Amino acid sequence: MDGLTVGYDAARAAWAADPEGWWMEAARGIDWFKPPSKAFFPGQGAYGLWFADGELNTCYNALDRHVARGHGGRVALAYDSPVTGTRRDITYAELLHEVERLAGAMAARGVGRGDRVVIYMPMVPEAAMAMLACARLGAIHSVVFGGFAAPELAARIDDAQPRLVLAASCGIEPGRIVPYKPLLDAAIEQATHKPAHCLILQRDQQRAELVPGRDEDWREAVAAAAPHPCVPVAATDPLYILYTSGTTGKPKGIVRENGGHAVALHASIGNMYGLRAGDVMFTASDVGWVVGHCYIVYGPLMAGLTSVFFEGKPVGTPDASTYWRICAEHGVKVMFTAPTAMRAIKKDDPEGRLTAGHDLSKLEALFLAGERCDPDTVLWAEKLLDRPVIDHWWQTETGWPITGAFRGLGMFPLRPGSGGRAAPGFDVVALDEGGHELPRGTMGQLALRLPLPPGALNTLWRTPERFHQSYLAHFPGYYDTSDAGMVDQDGYVWVMGRTDDVINVAGHRLSTGEMEEVLSGHRDVAECAVIGRSDAVKGQLPMGLVVLKAGVNRPEALVASELVSRVREHIGPVAAFREVHIVARLPKTRSGKILRATIRKIAECEPFPVPATIDDPAILDEIAAKLRGED
Ligand code: COA
Ligand code: AMP
Repeated sequence: MDGLTVGYDAARAAWAADPEGWWMEAARGIDWFKPPSKAFFPGQGAYGLWFADGELNTCYNALDRHVARGHGGRVALAYDSPVTGTRRDITYAELLHEVERLAGAMAARGVGRGDRVVIYMPMVPEAAMAMLACARLGAIHSVVFGGFAAPELAARIDDAQPRLVLAASCGIEPGRIVPYKPLLDAAIEQATHKPAHCLILQRDQQRAELVPGRDEDWREAVAAAAPHPCVPVAATDPLYILYTSGTTGKPKGIVRENGGHAVALHASIGNMYGLRAGDVMFTASDVGWVVGHCYIVYGPLMAGLTSVFFEGKPVGTPDASTYWRICAEHGVKVMFTAPTAMRAIKKDDPEGRLTAGHDLSKLEALFLAGERCDPDTVLWAEKLLDRPVIDHWWQTETGWPITGAFRGLGMFPLRPGSGGRAAPGFDVVALDEGGHELPRGTMGQLALRLPLPPGALNTLWRTPERFHQSYLAHFPGYYDTSDAGMVDQDGYVWVMGRTDDVINVAGHRLSTGEMEEVLSGHRDVAECAVIGRSDAVKGQLPMGLVVLKAGVNRPEALVASELVSRVREHIGPVAAFREVHIVARLPKTRSGKILRATIRKIAECEPFPVPATIDDPAILDEIAAKLRGED
């Protein structure tokens, strides 16, 4: 699909008139072992399946085909790690060489089509190799973000039941080394399911002890392995499971299929980002998140781009110029990051002086996603870069952007604060509580009319009933995004925030319900509430209100610090849980429901109506005084 000559409106009209034709055309961008006979199979799955009779291999599309077509010398991954002082360009041919041997090593340990493999790694190129090697074998990977603690990893191991774990000895955070291997050992100890094998990548910064009989040295295993060819899989075979936070402590295993994912991601590289083979894309995220899966690894590689693989932070490694250095040194054409990263840079370098001396002439656009971006930050970045700054809205579940602006289809004026207009493939509406479509310009619950396009989820790992309950049951005929917002008269979508217990901390999706479960597990806690409170850099930070059991007379500060440590140990440092207040009572309705929305308003110092159903209005003043530090 050469979208460059098609306007956005025309493209959207073409999709709306013939969605199946649109997606069959997009499917031509993928090499199939057996091309699908048609795009959509309506009678299958929860709302139909895409490309159900096609066969392909995602790794073949990401690596082999480029090498076969003579592009083996092109850089696939440009590893840039200011935390280790390393730069390493890996060509498509080199990456293929590594991946086919890693796949061979995994196959020799019994990993085959449909088997699960958990990947617990920092941002080193071997993490991408691990994902691609799984794809090569038709195995299903589940990458777990390094900032999660052992119990989170254990929960994912128990749910995914991997045959093999691929991990590194350590990660590197500014100022400290994070030993990953002891976390992995603890997680396997805690999990009921025991993986048969672990391949451990020993990093020079800190090597790990290997458990005899279970752990092996990654490099030795790869050196001894024979290259493994690509295994053809059904388009509907899962490529990966990615766990994401829901309302409860049990994360949701989002299942991504091979076929729809390949087609949609490949198309999005041209249509949305306006990139072609040979271009350089820099996505500053982590392979532990959906953005990393899609736009550090699979999307850029399937499209034959060079993907910058960055191990560092927007600030502090060594300073707020790092992104600009990378854009200049690697000739980045499109950059993608989270608004929180831009806010961190803005805080350290408000005048943007650190762009000086960096040649940004190749940079054409900056894309932002992962959380709502305040218009100030968009305008600041636009002024600094003098390039389009494109906010685009999506979710782990949708697998690729629901809305945005389309550099490959034809740009339209951007409206700071809005996530742009719907991608061809997504039909976004605002609904009222009863599921009725609201007129344009009216706030409601954002929903997507079924069927979802290729690449979006159509089930949760081994819990189809939870998929139905979480996403489809609330508004029959629609997928419930759990985001509130509106679609304006011109089709721009304005996303205001989550309607459930999910918060967004520095672009990381976390569940306040899960934090409440962890706090409640402390022996002194009678009940608690966790809410998200606005933060100038991280967007939101969690804050806990805790009522202690009667008779507990240990110092409040001691209990509070134990609670902070407890969240760090159970969920991980990424939760950034530091603020906890011990209170006498929590505001509740007469039926006993905690009034979290009212607590949120008090925490934000916003005016709040006293809910008619409240049990005892005096509690609200007590909480307000506590949060103002007046008690
Ligand atoms: N492994 C181990 N620990 C990790 C980790 C990882 N991969 N990632 C984060 N952590 C730890 C940090 O070291 C920190 O620990 P600390 O409490 O001991 O300081 C904690 O988790 C919180 O980390 P982070 O959210 O990175 O906060 P920060 O204060 O260190 O940095 C920002 C703030 C804004 C610079 C940082 O959050 C950032 O780069 N955000 C962008 C995130 C992003 O790109 N998300 C993509 C989603 S699309
Ligand atoms: P995740 O699944 O981690 O990508 O988080 C998805 C959630 O992040 C969405 O449901 C939104 O609440 C929020 N989000 C992501 N991108 C945007 C955006 N561009 N604007 C507003 N909210 C966003």
